Amino acid sequence: MTPYARAHWTDYNDAQRTREVRPLCREVLALAGPGEGRTAIDLGCGLGRETDALLRAGYRTHAVDMHPDTEAKVLAHTRAADHPRLTVQSVPFGLLRALPHAHLVYAGYSLPYCAAADFDRVWALVRRALRPGGWLAVNLFGEHDSYAGSSSGTFLTRTQVEESLAGLEVVRLDEEDADGDSFGGPKHWHLFDIIARRPQR
Ligand SMILES: C[S@@+](CC[C@H](N)C(=O)[O-])C[C@H]1O[C@@H](n2cnc3c(N)ncnc32)[C@H](O)[C@@H]1O
Repeated sequence: MTPYARAHWTDYNDAQRTREVRPLCREVLALAGPGEGRTAIDLGCGLGRETDALLRAGYRTHAVDMHPDTEAKVLAHTRAADHPRLTVQSVPFGLLRALPHAHLVYAGYSLPYCAAADFDRVWALVRRALRPGGWLAVNLFGEHDSYAGSSSGTFLTRTQVEESLAGLEVVRLDEEDADGDSFGGPKHWHLFDIIARRPQR
């Protein structure tokens, strides 16, 4: 099954219930501090593992994913007491037209599955969503990734990644270019882990 198939993401997301919150999300939360009613976005939220972490940190959280079951999954995976601060949007990146303004945007292993033809527009939405001083934490795939070549994904050179971050304060830009494991089996990872911040002014 290709990683782009809906059934693949159903299996993938169902397997995420008990894992730790991803380190990139933990790191950006440590940098951004408690939400105290500020807004966060979890783009490509899957089951909502990181949505839950953002809510528990006190953020109003907008969770987005193309999967039609997203709302039910995220509601089931988060605390009822946090639901007044949660909104869920089930939409593919290609049809995403707006995002709320946010102090933190997290996109964990999701934007690489945005079709290349849509990526620049979606990336512009993400950048526009960031409030001054707002934090961005995102994984992007590079051109050497095993999945590169698919029209359903976006695979960037390091130069393109750096250009996409122009005007932001880059706190972390790690690049991995190595064989490894994945949910679908062995693959070559070409991965960029990014934390950046929109300047205050
Ligand atoms: C690798 S999973 C990551 C999920 C979650 N962020 C995590 O770290 O476990 C990729 C997620 O992106 C979603 N996705 C894939 N292609 C998408 C698209 N074109 N538009 C919106 N969401 C998409 C999938 O449904 C899936 O939940």
